[in-house]
Amino acid sequence: MTLPDHWIASWIEPEQEPTFVERYSPERDEIRLRWPKTAIDRALLRPVQCVRIEFEVAQPVVRARLFATAHGVYKAFVNGSRTGNDELAPDWTPYRSLLMVQETDVQPLIQIGRNALAFMIADGWWCGRIGMHGTSANFGDRLGLLAQLEMELADGSRQTIGTGDTFRSAPAEMVHADFLMGETHDLRLRQKGWTLSGFDDRRWPTVCIASQALDNLSPQIGPSATIVAELRCERVLQTPNGDTVLDFGRNLTGRLRGVLQGTRGTDVSFEYFQSLGPDGNCFDNVLAMNQAGRDAVILSGDSKEAFEFQFAFHGFRYVRMAGHRARPRAEAFTALALSSLQDPVGEFACSDERLNRLHSNIQWTLRSTMLSVPMDNPDRERVGWTGDMALVARTSMLMFDMQGFLERWLNCLREEQQPDGAVPMVIPMFDGYRDWFEARFQTCATSGWGDAAVVVPWLMYEAYGDKDILERSFPSMQRWLEYVRLQAAASLTEEDRQNPALAHLWRAGSFHFGDWLAPSARTLTPTGMYDGRHMALATKELLPTIWYARSASILADAAAVLGRGETADYRCLAAAIRESFCAAFVRNGRLVDERQGNYVLAAAFDMVPGQRDALVARLAELIHQRGDRLDTGFVSTAFLLQVLADGGHAGLAYSLLCSEQDPSWLYQVERGATTVWEMWDSIQQDGNVTRTSQIQPALGSVGEWLYGYVAGLRPASPGWDDIRIEPVLDERLSWARGSHRTRHGVVSAEWQRHEDTVRLRIELPDGTRGTVRLEANGPELIHLGGMPVAECPGLSVVNDGRCVAVMCPPGTYVFTAPFPAAR
Ligand code: BGC
Repeated sequence: MTLPDHWIASWIEPEQEPTFVERYSPERDEIRLRWPKTAIDRALLRPVQCVRIEFEVAQPVVRARLFATAHGVYKAFVNGSRTGNDELAPDWTPYRSLLMVQETDVQPLIQIGRNALAFMIADGWWCGRIGMHGTSANFGDRLGLLAQLEMELADGSRQTIGTGDTFRSAPAEMVHADFLMGETHDLRLRQKGWTLSGFDDRRWPTVCIASQALDNLSPQIGPSATIVAELRCERVLQTPNGDTVLDFGRNLTGRLRGVLQGTRGTDVSFEYFQSLGPDGNCFDNVLAMNQAGRDAVILSGDSKEAFEFQFAFHGFRYVRMAGHRARPRAEAFTALALSSLQDPVGEFACSDERLNRLHSNIQWTLRSTMLSVPMDNPDRERVGWTGDMALVARTSMLMFDMQGFLERWLNCLREEQQPDGAVPMVIPMFDGYRDWFEARFQTCATSGWGDAAVVVPWLMYEAYGDKDILERSFPSMQRWLEYVRLQAAASLTEEDRQNPALAHLWRAGSFHFGDWLAPSARTLTPTGMYDGRHMALATKELLPTIWYARSASILADAAAVLGRGETADYRCLAAAIRESFCAAFVRNGRLVDERQGNYVLAAAFDMVPGQRDALVARLAELIHQRGDRLDTGFVSTAFLLQVLADGGHAGLAYSLLCSEQDPSWLYQVERGATTVWEMWDSIQQDGNVTRTSQIQPALGSVGEWLYGYVAGLRPASPGWDDIRIEPVLDERLSWARGSHRTRHGVVSAEWQRHEDTVRLRIELPDGTRGTVRLEANGPELIHLGGMPVAECPGLSVVNDGRCVAVMCPPGTYVFTAPFPAAR
């Protein structure tokens, strides 16, 4: 899409009171951790605004496009019908430099004669409350609209309507709509027919023309958010303390639609919860300021009144309903799930139902957090923490089409990158967190999180084979590494400086998150929240240097792909960083800080060259010492099982995957999770619910292992041209299957155990080549359609003594092989 050349529309602003401004202050940092929570008085919130115009059309319209965007989030209507199905448009971007304009085909909605063009605008990210301090006016303090309707008439002439001073506005029946505080509809204020022509708007004031920027406008990049599922209320329950609660059966991010009947003025409220507490009552696990998460409907007294909240969203399974005398009927309520992701591109199933639940929980978590930006969670913060996205990048790309979504986000990241190369911890940034980072951390960037600038484009290249994304991102990747190089140099101690072997460390003197939420480093505050500072301090020592090395290596690889000259320099740098790592952090073959996470990361990124297996062996020992329990945080969990399996400990990887002990993935599943939790034990063993999110993708990074190792599907070259099919078989499963829609088509693998043999069926679409690797002592033990593979025409077979590799052109194959002995 390009914007029309003759752009006539001006920014308009409804007559309104500006947003009540709430800025970050260090006191807010204290207040946000207090219970009961503090929230703004609802009377200070501002209403949704309606904007309208009518116009005549004299002839049939052959083409009509509406271009629109807002300061706030908007919905548009032509003659009473919604245009398009976008939700929460315009998506959240660094609005000051990048504001997207949506283009919609509205030709079918325009009629000869009189027409009405109407909009609703709500606070959204622009002036509403965001982040855990609940700051407002992060981009501006007034709602605004910019729209142009372009029509081509039957005789070839054009008619254009652009926002200007003839538009009129009035407050909507939504007396406020704030992401965090919720939305209230006073149905008594509904102005019937205001989106239709013929509505009498003479009492509505005309709007003001605002001198706002046009140079930040861009066509839509990536997918808009839409309603991706409608869930019926499964049951209505009465909790022990007498609350009436709607149960939608699973966690989701979205909003509520319903039908109510009652006397005029009845005020029915809806509050959103992810779980019930040990006493069976609703438990509010969201601890932050202005997080009231409460919607309400004030009835007008008409017979049945339908309502649907429009501009607020919540992460929830349960909805507590109050203020309505009659007991609600489940059929009257629907939860609408919102997401920027469409249908999944990956499927996974296996013989262990618990793992299938885990897979579904990951899927729903990604769906529920990839909403406009990759949110950390849809409750406490709802912001695009860079580290979290980088950690689930592979899993998300196996499960959903992420290309457009991540391209948009990387665009935002490049916009937000600082002149010195620093990449903020959240993308997009906003005033509230900018002030917080400055006051609290004296920096906006940290290791592991900022490295998303390097990691995400690289993983996208691996998944989609698209060099353009690397090309576009390369300067930003380089600038991040340059920034790190200076930070690293400045981090050295006096002693380090005396020793050239330590010259390439990145000391963790300044703020770093470390292996966030590693169980042994975690402490809880009395209000049920974790103490981030303690966790970061305890786990951060080795991590900056590891991230530095990883990013330098990726830059070397990316430079090579792009045929650039810098490859050798980056390789040297990466090698030098590893040498410094060994000099500073390795003693007698062991890491100086023997946390599981450190071993995982040191092995994953080859920090001690030639010693990977030894590191993994020590990691296995440490896991055994904890009673075969993991002790990894957000960061290292993403690599844990892969490192174990690749290092010859696949059995232990399965033990961790299948464990139900706390901490583990299946602990959550067994406790009834329907999405992935922020902490391994967001609900603790005694049933105590902590004030952490129960919809947080980071620990779902294990999805990658389900596809890559359990089902055995891994890309062996960028874009899945070459595919490695290597299921890791284990006696705890009797079958597994996975599929993934690549740019070439769907690739799938399915294995089934039959006593001592395994049958593996694979599908390789045209344009791909597969290498199947199966454990067997010799090729004669592997058969294809009853014939030893070595004798099958068109296949080449390599035997390395432990595994047999069979190279296959596109097609469908069914192999049989011995099932490996118990590990
Ligand atoms: C967020 C995380 C984020 C972290 C920074 C948390 O409050 O929810 O997901 O990455 O802060 O460590």
